[in-house]
Amino acid sequence: MENNLKGKKILITVDPTREYLDPVRFITNESSGKMGFAIADVLYNQGAEVIVVSGPVSMQHTVPVENVVQLVTVNEMFEACKQYFYLVDVAIFAAAVADYLPKNPSNCKIKKSEQVALVEFVKNPDIAFEFGKIKTSKQISIGFALETNDVLDNAAIKLKSKSFDAIVINSPKKDEGFGFDTNRVSILKRDGTINHYPLKSKNEVAQDIVYELQKLVESIEQTH
Ligand code: CTP
Repeated sequence: MENNLKGKKILITVDPTREYLDPVRFITNESSGKMGFAIADVLYNQGAEVIVVSGPVSMQHTVPVENVVQLVTVNEMFEACKQYFYLVDVAIFAAAVADYLPKNPSNCKIKKSEQVALVEFVKNPDIAFEFGKIKTSKQISIGFALETNDVLDNAAIKLKSKSFDAIVINSPKKDEGFGFDTNRVSILKRDGTINHYPLKSKNEVAQDIVYELQKLVESIEQTH
């Protein structure tokens, strides 16, 4: 297929984020940012104008540093995305963000004075959901899903509720996802078609995802 991503403006969120309980402790997850930066690199090498909005990871990448916005929390990621979303042709939500943040983070280090420590959490904004509400018919968005049960049904619900054009279903199995160099994915598209891919390096998976994106760009360009 001809490269139709040259010059396209593409926003990509990359995991993980942190939510602080006190100045020295935070909630996060095991995601490494490898998958997100692998996709960003493939897009950049195809001539796309890539903006990476990334949580605190230090990955080697070919995307110029001035195109990488570094932040820490989900709220900061949401604010950064607001500056770019309306400018881009494509948004890829690859960040595995914290769904909740502590309601009352402490300004001082929490001392171990209590036998039981209770922390109350409140919901973070759902970035992909919020932009799904304002996405135009010319914009394409791709999301990710990590499911342990009712995988296809849950992914299909996420695809619809967040107005994704395609959703990349990650495997939760050891060696196949978070923190590893390999990944096994399936890509479900809005038209109901699904492609299952074998275990591959994250760079190869990134190429498969970008190939699916090229097909989406082709079909949207035919309808406009
Ligand atoms: N997402 C997001 N902002 C959030 C939560 C999720 O942008 N606060 C995006 C992710 O980047 C991903 C998609 O939404 O593309 C699905 O994320 P996932 O964590 O699998 O699902 P959730 O919507 O958080 O639902 P749940 O954790 O209940 O499965």
